[in-house]
Amino acid sequence: LSGKRVLLVVTGGIAAYKSATLCRLLVKAGAMVRVAMTRAACEFVTPTTFAALSDNPVSTDLFDPLQEGRIGHIDLADSSDLFVVAPATANTLARMARGMADDLVSTTYLAFRGPVLLAPAMNVHMWQHPATRENMELLLARQDHHLVGPGDGEMACGHVGAGRVAEPEQILQAAGACLAAQDLKGVSVLVSAGGTHEAIDPVRYVGNRSSGKMGFALAAEARARGAEVTLVSGPSALPSPLGVDRVDVESAAQMAAAIKARSRTQDLIIMAAAVADYTPRDPWSTKLKKEAAGARLTLKLDRTEDILAGLGAMDPRPILVGFAAETVDNLDEVARAKMAAKGCDFLVANDVRPADAGFGTDTNRVVIYSAGGGRDPLPVLPKRAVAAKILDRALGILQKR
Ligand code: PMT
Repeated sequence: LSGKRVLLVVTGGIAAYKSATLCRLLVKAGAMVRVAMTRAACEFVTPTTFAALSDNPVSTDLFDPLQEGRIGHIDLADSSDLFVVAPATANTLARMARGMADDLVSTTYLAFRGPVLLAPAMNVHMWQHPATRENMELLLARQDHHLVGPGDGEMACGHVGAGRVAEPEQILQAAGACLAAQDLKGVSVLVSAGGTHEAIDPVRYVGNRSSGKMGFALAAEARARGAEVTLVSGPSALPSPLGVDRVDVESAAQMAAAIKARSRTQDLIIMAAAVADYTPRDPWSTKLKKEAAGARLTLKLDRTEDILAGLGAMDPRPILVGFAAETVDNLDEVARAKMAAKGCDFLVANDVRPADAGFGTDTNRVVIYSAGGGRDPLPVLPKRAVAAKILDRALGILQKR
């Protein structure tokens, strides 16, 4: 979204207040945001709010004497890369579907050439009405028209069901996906993420500090670029990236089973998960009592299956990307040895000691080692940007195959 010109169209529903957050998120992502509002939207949130958040004047009228010198709706359409309607009411969707052109939003829509993202919000019965169904069918059959949400849940009107506007973060993600190059279309990608939990007893486990952020960023980026994505995740509080098939697992053994069962149908597997190397030999079936264990407790741990090494031995095998989380000074040596042992195409090594890299952080600092001997150190980047670099490299290998 960075540097992209996003037209955020706000229409008249109670969910309009959430678009203020969306506007902020778009600006934070580097987009240049213009906001257009229907008359009804101004009943819920004032244009002043959006003017302050977008740092741009807000358009509300088709015949605005201040903007008509440049024919406001044409100028707005021509100077936008993406048209996001959030929230999209039943009325606005109907008007867009039927090609009405009697206010600023409808005329700008007709004049716009580019991707359109719709985030509907309305009462469940209005959403399910055959008229709305027909309008949605018409809209989504049009080139480059995309839908995000609506979600299920309790609504402002007290009804429960489908019709809640998608969360601002989800709309942001979908907006990014609308603008991304679809260079991974037709490619099946499996990403592992998060850490595993190895049970000691029913309430305790051996685990690690992985949050899942790196793996989830890879899954979201691959999906945004058109890939079919399976995300095998250890326990993580993160929401699933849109359009990704998520498989939740707990232990290293479950992760191994989930990945192996899907490995033959993948073009690319990226092992970002921090898989436990050891698991308690005989986990207790009931909660271990201090009184029974005594002053010192010794756990016997067994090695877990090395999933990546197993994938590396497949013939034929998908493109394989390994990670290495290290706390050593001789990263080059350790990373190269690990890559050779695991048999992957390239390995992404991160020194997890600095505060801006590794576990739980939003950024990462990695060095990419390739099987051919290459070494590519990257600066500190948001995990999503690291994901993009990794996928660029994997795509290069896929194209040569
Ligand atoms: O989740 P975050 O908080 O965002 O943190 C990201 C991260 C630090 C977890 C991530 O960037 C990372 O480094 N992941 C790999 C961590 C790790 O387990 O490294 P390792 O050096 O122990 O393992 C090497 C490779 O073998 C990894 O690709 C790992 O997934 C794989 N492996 C390890 C053990 C095992 N039994 N099976 C495996 O396949």
